[in-house]
Amino acid sequence: MAESAELILDGKSISLPVIEGTEHEKAFDIGKLRDQTGYVTLDSGYKNTGATKSAITFLDGEEGILRYRGYPIEQLAEKSNFLEVAYLLIYGALPTQAEFDNFKYQITQHTLIHEDIRKILDGFPSSAHPMGILSSLVCSLTAFYPKSIAPEISKEELDLNIVRLMAKISTIAAWSYKNSVGHPLIYPRNDLDYCANFLYMMFSFPTEKYEINPVVVSALNKLLILHADHEQNCSTSTVRLVGSANASLYGSVSAGINALWGPLHGGANQEVIEMLEAIEADGGDTSKWIAKAKDKNDSFRLMGFGHRVYKNFDPRATIIKKAADEVLQALGLKDSPLLKIAQELEQAALTDQYFIERKLYPNVDFYSGIIYKALGIPTEMFTVMFALGRLPGWIAQWKEMRENKEPIGRPRQIYTGELERDYVPMSERA
Ligand code: CMC
Repeated sequence: MAESAELILDGKSISLPVIEGTEHEKAFDIGKLRDQTGYVTLDSGYKNTGATKSAITFLDGEEGILRYRGYPIEQLAEKSNFLEVAYLLIYGALPTQAEFDNFKYQITQHTLIHEDIRKILDGFPSSAHPMGILSSLVCSLTAFYPKSIAPEISKEELDLNIVRLMAKISTIAAWSYKNSVGHPLIYPRNDLDYCANFLYMMFSFPTEKYEINPVVVSALNKLLILHADHEQNCSTSTVRLVGSANASLYGSVSAGINALWGPLHGGANQEVIEMLEAIEADGGDTSKWIAKAKDKNDSFRLMGFGHRVYKNFDPRATIIKKAADEVLQALGLKDSPLLKIAQELEQAALTDQYFIERKLYPNVDFYSGIIYKALGIPTEMFTVMFALGRLPGWIAQWKEMRENKEPIGRPRQIYTGELERDYVPMSERA
């Protein structure tokens, strides 16, 4: 392997050290480039920029590989559960039974939220999007746990913040939904597992007994595992960037939730179902919508297709497609018209030159929306579900960034604005 690369600039040779990762990914270290030459690099959208060295998640978009801490996503989705995967991501190794029991116990003990947070929730209109509520209430935890905002926090305090956040986010998420439909808030039940407890808080009523459906619990575990980390995506980079200013874990994760909300990121799962419903309402002619997606004069995109890094297939989509089949079968929803439209779209796109040439395959959000719909999760909650799943990844990345003592993130720019000019009084302006 080359240990450095030579950059020839104005006849001068500049040596750029080559950095190699454990999976042989290579990078030029340009950290000293500006000092040496006055130049910066420009990479809009960071398509070709490594912002950090990370030991958490390996992803190969060309080969369709995704591994958390070295473990293939396929094995974790089949054999593990969401809390175990959360532990793995955050602490770097699969837990022993004692470690897992303790982690689970700690999280279970923190599921209640301060009653004053209820009052904040009461202040939101029932029309508020649950993602807005989620990010606000997660940020409000800084007010209830002020030690969390200290620039340096002990390992014990960090562990406490981690279990608090893992526990409370599911209560906040379920309550954000209950608020939106005007139903009574349901308090957590600590005898239930993480996913079962979340479903209980979402769907039960104080007036009736709630039956936990194991098919739904298992599907939810799988979905959350598949979303748990995805290296330096938009929301995770946001969490790291905000955290690099020594902002608190709660504040940084709240920022990540807002990034995830965007329709080009986590918001896509909601957009997929809305698109399928729009196609159904329009008569169900999928070819018309495929044509719209290909038309450069039409801003419509086939939601749930394409990915910034997966240019072959999205391994999460393969697992989730199988899970969607199983769930729909088990819940007797195999003949749903939306599923039929989804299958037709998928087939049409996979055989269409436009999509083939651009390597546009169904991504994780194409199928996750379909499963969430089948599980009875309301459309506006889809991105909240993504946030629940992504939380361990955000925590792990924030923790890694702090432990590695990374400097504050501060990109450069190439200025393209006006040159210096004198202020003109308002009376003299044209
Ligand atoms: N439908 C139609 N055309 C598309 C689509 C699509 N979904 N996605 C990309 N293209 C076209 C695009 O118009 C461009 O064509 P051309 O080369 O002729 O100009 C080409 O494919 C490359 O697109 P791009 O926007 O440069 O690709 P990107 O890597 O910057 O964007 C993406 C990736 C995910 C933002 C984009 O594919 C997209 O908008 N997809 C729909 C939204 C979606 O499903 N997002 C969820 C992503 S997965 C969950 C997550 O990790 O957040």
